[in-house]
Amino acid sequence: MDTRPNSPEARDIRYHLHGYTNARKHQESGPLIIEKGDGIYVEDVAGNRYIEAMAGLWSVAVGFSEKRLVDAATRQMSKLPYYHDFGSKSHSPLVDLAEKLVQMAPVPMSKAYFTNSGSEANDTAMKMIWYRSNALGQPARKKIISRKRGYHGVTIAAASLTGLPNNHLSFDLPIANVLHTSTPHYWREAAPGESEEQFSSRLAEDLEKLILAEGPETIAAFFGEPIMGAGGVIVPPAGYWEKIQAVLSKYDILLVADEVICGFGRTGEMFGSQTFGIGPDIMVLSKQISSSYLPISALLINEKVFEPIADESDRIGTFGHGFTGGGHPVAAAVALENLKLIDERDLVGNARTVGAHLQARLRRLASHPLVGEVRGVGLIAAVELVADKAGKAPWEKPGALGALVNGLLQQNGVISRNMGDAIAFCPPLIITEAQVDTLVDAFERSLAAAMPQVRPQG
Ligand SMILES: Cc1ncc(COP(=O)(O)O)c(C=O)c1O
Repeated sequence: MDTRPNSPEARDIRYHLHGYTNARKHQESGPLIIEKGDGIYVEDVAGNRYIEAMAGLWSVAVGFSEKRLVDAATRQMSKLPYYHDFGSKSHSPLVDLAEKLVQMAPVPMSKAYFTNSGSEANDTAMKMIWYRSNALGQPARKKIISRKRGYHGVTIAAASLTGLPNNHLSFDLPIANVLHTSTPHYWREAAPGESEEQFSSRLAEDLEKLILAEGPETIAAFFGEPIMGAGGVIVPPAGYWEKIQAVLSKYDILLVADEVICGFGRTGEMFGSQTFGIGPDIMVLSKQISSSYLPISALLINEKVFEPIADESDRIGTFGHGFTGGGHPVAAAVALENLKLIDERDLVGNARTVGAHLQARLRRLASHPLVGEVRGVGLIAAVELVADKAGKAPWEKPGALGALVNGLLQQNGVISRNMGDAIAFCPPLIITEAQVDTLVDAFERSLAAAMPQVRPQG
């Protein structure tokens, strides 16, 4: 770190409170300042180059130097730099994007609604669901079920849906009416001898018990990510989504698929809902929709959701919800161009084929003494590290080994992210097999470097 008083690092420490950072530790360790990007790589202010193995925050599908997105933004900025959709106003990029998203949806959807972030989109989904319950004359139907370790964002409602302690502690969350059911993590949570199907059946029973205990007439919706991302890249076990959906339809509970990470190709299909046979009533989209070149998110809602909302807005006189930046024309133009690129370059196919290579290379590490589980689909994966393979026990304390290896990976030229002891890989969808090899080679070197410090047991 450059410690001169006016270095960017020193000024960052002086002026900037970071998201998801230990603010006290940051005052000592300082920031890693990223200066530029090129394809799957980013470069820091000191000129060190890294493979961005998380695509930023699971989001830069087309890589960090896509001129066509810059041009799309510039063109739209010159023509109409800002407009909104309040009071029946609209603009061409928004009309085109709404049409495109509704047509892309894997199940029949009726309308697109635009927001600026995944959190805002999930908050909006929750408000729409409450509004709908009132419209249907079911004011008691307000409770929402999500899952422990699920991630849906950080605003008050979205953080409540999130099932991770760090998003609740000292924030006085979750709010009322949000319930969390079990995590579909077979490797960690299954009982001895239980098959994946049996485990899935047990989780569906857990869900049904919760619904019955609370009163089915009080449950409005279930929120879930097709693959849990920030909770540790947890891939659902066989039969999970089928069994969960059977319970939800039995009690007429809406299903919200949070596709913020899985959407637009990550799993090797356009949507995670296709990979896992999910038929949602609402889809929440963000991140890869614009490769995060500009913030934009969207909800797709089906007729079951739209129709009562339309009636209620007519009764009240308006749908009293909307964001100044929602459906921003420049972000919408960038999203449209980004979706064109995903299509033209068959990045979904690339996620499938290069993803299969990534999964195969990582699975070769399954016998490594520090590797507990390798999991993933397409171009999203995690390797969960343990010090005791048989007992699945961590080294020193939970997260310590993950942080150690994550730091070593960075020294070896790869930016990854450890969620506790799970090291995640979620690279840009443009990555090649050769680049995957470079990434996994660096991971192997990092594991080897960790070995002398960690004494594996068992
Ligand atoms: C599945 C999922 N939903 C919602 C969010 C929240 O999105 P944002 O950070 O844009 O608010 C995220 C962010 O990582 C996410 O992974």
